[in-house]
Amino acid sequence: LHSGRLIIVAYRLPFKLIRENDEVQLFQNSGGLVSAVLSLVNDQKEPIFSSAERIQWVGFSENTPEELEGQSLENDDFQAHPVFISDEVNENYYEGFCNNLIWPLCHYFPSLARFEEAYYDAYKVANRLFYDKVAEIIQPGDVVWVQDYQLMLLPDMIRQRFPENKIGFFFHIPFPSFELFRLLPVAWRKAIVDGILGADVVGFHTNDYVEYFLKAARLVSGYGNKLHYINMSNRIIKVDSFPISIDFHKFNDAFEEPEVAVARNDARNSLKEKIIFSVDRLDYSKGIIHRLRGYQRFLENCPEWHEKVSFVMVVVPSRDTIEQYQQMKSDIDQTVGRINADYGNIYWQPIIYQYRSMPYHELVGMYTASDVALITPVRDGMNLVCKEYVASRKDRQGVLILSEMAGAAAELGEALIINPLDQQDIADAIKTAFEMPIEEQTKRMDAMRERILDYDVFAWTNDFFTQMTMLELEHERLR
Ligand code: UDP
Ligand code: G6P
Repeated sequence: LHSGRLIIVAYRLPFKLIRENDEVQLFQNSGGLVSAVLSLVNDQKEPIFSSAERIQWVGFSENTPEELEGQSLENDDFQAHPVFISDEVNENYYEGFCNNLIWPLCHYFPSLARFEEAYYDAYKVANRLFYDKVAEIIQPGDVVWVQDYQLMLLPDMIRQRFPENKIGFFFHIPFPSFELFRLLPVAWRKAIVDGILGADVVGFHTNDYVEYFLKAARLVSGYGNKLHYINMSNRIIKVDSFPISIDFHKFNDAFEEPEVAVARNDARNSLKEKIIFSVDRLDYSKGIIHRLRGYQRFLENCPEWHEKVSFVMVVVPSRDTIEQYQQMKSDIDQTVGRINADYGNIYWQPIIYQYRSMPYHELVGMYTASDVALITPVRDGMNLVCKEYVASRKDRQGVLILSEMAGAAAELGEALIINPLDQQDIADAIKTAFEMPIEEQTKRMDAMRERILDYDVFAWTNDFFTQMTMLELEHERLR
């Protein structure tokens, strides 16, 4: 057990505070990071921290300080510490450096990456704002866990001023091969590598990302490693893979919840006999257009399935102030419209499309109602949606079609693995899924369910903090 408190630092607080008719409502922010870290906060199965105090969460709040005045920013599980960033800085930091440069580069879209000095300046300023908040609340013995690509400079900033506190860093997106990473200006590359290496334990989802990062550390800053340990003059750093996961039991048990059962039955009663489901944030990395083309190819190849299939596609609004995302939204709208017009008729709509987030019980209702989950990112750090689909299937039925470009493909080999750029591959996989005997579905589901149960989100965090403890012991041994 770690004796101090846990301080999580992420770009976002887990909830948005929205004022409606003088009442303040909490809405969970979307995305895998918040889902995973929040499961840990809500329900530490085996406590990792002995401190009786709540988990501290430092993150950006979209509200102004005045709007938050008088609001309670704590509940039984955590205490939120909002960081305020001006619109001007946030535009160059969040939209600019984070999502017009690092995100496309790490997801292998270098042509979308924009290199602006103002972005980098704002990135430094914003990381400093998070640092200031951490410096305000940190106490001796606290463990700081910094999350994701928005905060790569932060671990070293904390290290410089608080060398005795333990610091972890987790990268939730793919770390790219060196050929992409080297597209960054030399000074930026170095600041990023050195910033991250301020942490004691640095985590990625897969071994590939670990190898790419270690190569960058070697070529950019000259740090070699031995079996994933980097030896600095005064400390040791461990870089390793920790595949992020979900709360298996939460999704498994949801099968019988009345609200979920109602949503499942509603879906089954209102849709056609075969249901395909997908849900993602609006993002070019999710392969939504390729997925639609694959489905179109399926309809073209298989007239026998016309009027017998509904593809329910949920797109959760995300980053819609950024040009690329707006463009993509309109491409999706047009493609869906075209397919529905070309193939549908007054009795049948081939694609049912929603551009809105989904409440939890409806989401699990759809997971458990659908015959196929069609998950086709062209690049994805992990992808939790596919793990949630599998864990929800207490009935051990349903077929997962999964892109080989998702980090999760390394763990879920019993899915029908496809190349998301290959329309024919997607079309064939849908046909195979529809024809798959129940016994085979169950065999594949069982194997995947067991693996997710074995390494759930609690195992993920336990593993991360165990590495931290082991590193501490190693330090003591060397002292
Ligand atoms: N999700 C959400 N809002 C929704 C629907 C889904 O927040 O309306 C959740 C979903 O349950 C999952 C996460 O968003 O936990 C998506 O995580 P994933 O790793 O698949 O992708 P990311 O959005 O992080 O790229
Ligand atoms: C992914 C990233 C997170 C991010 C989330 C939502 O999960 O790894 O860091 O918070 O997407 O994106 P947004 O831009 O809305 O924060």
